[in-house]
Amino acid sequence: MSDAKEYSCVKLEIDDEGIAWVSFNRPEKRNAMSPTLHFEMEDVMAELETNEDAKVIVLTGEGVSWSAGMDLKEYFRETDNNPKARFKSQWAHRHWAQYLMVSAKPSIAMVNGYCFGGAFTPLAACDIAIAAEDATFGLSEVNWGILPGGNVSKVFRDLASHRDSLFYAMTGRTFDGKKAVDMGIVNLAVPADKLREETLALARELLEKSPAVLAFTKQAVKAVQGMDMNMAYEYLGAKQGALRAADKEGTRQKGMSEFLDNKSYRPGLGAVKRD
Ligand code: ACO
Repeated sequence: MSDAKEYSCVKLEIDDEGIAWVSFNRPEKRNAMSPTLHFEMEDVMAELETNEDAKVIVLTGEGVSWSAGMDLKEYFRETDNNPKARFKSQWAHRHWAQYLMVSAKPSIAMVNGYCFGGAFTPLAACDIAIAAEDATFGLSEVNWGILPGGNVSKVFRDLASHRDSLFYAMTGRTFDGKKAVDMGIVNLAVPADKLREETLALARELLEKSPAVLAFTKQAVKAVQGMDMNMAYEYLGAKQGALRAADKEGTRQKGMSEFLDNKSYRPGLGAVKRD
């Protein structure tokens, strides 16, 4: 395990397998997202995107919380009369979440505890999400006088149903990890004491795949959401061609050859072995 860089509100460790463990690191404030945390996360994302040692990103929280959302004191109250400072931290937040959303590297949200309000932005930006069964999720904005802003109403509505989106946004009721799976907010919920182990297994599964194939796959799945059928055919055809040029490992050729010629491998059951 190597410390890639030191931050005050974020912890970044890239392990020997290539898993970048990124933790919100303000446990005493339940990992509420302060302006400093946003500025640091912007740097973390740029670092991860350009660091070849980082192959899979896991985003989690230190202590009992994933993130209690935006910091009501530092992000809101202290910038209420300082639009310039508010803009800078909003901008950084938006940037790092967008970087995460479009990163070429696969990302997993490992939700270990509280996930409120603004925390849905990074949650939705991660490709895959795994939560502790007893994690606590909520759109608490309505409880203290704002609507789910930034992109929270949008990403929540993209993930959950019309009914659930309105229900949870209007009541502010909390829900646990199991319910989050039912709603489509996260992929898996596991007992808290198995969360890291299950996340590690998932990260290792992703590490077996070709990075180029994974990057193009996640980009394609995200991009087709806003397309009509004809556009999707066109886009995916072009993207497929671009992937063959980009995949220097030649995964497609290798996969076909191992299956059809050597008969040593079943594509339906796992990744073709990488060199
Ligand atoms: N912003 C600023 N400080 C926070 C936040 C937050 N979002 N969440 C927790 N903290 C701070 C508390 O003020 C407290 O600080 P202090 O020790 O200096 O007094 C410390 O973290 C611990 O908080 P407690 O409330 O004592 O912790 P507890 O474990 O009892 O409760 C919980 C945790 C449920 C997360 C609670 O802190 C809470 O409701 N936080 C606010 C959640 C929220 O509404 N987030 C904003 C959503 S809206 C948005 O993000 C745009």
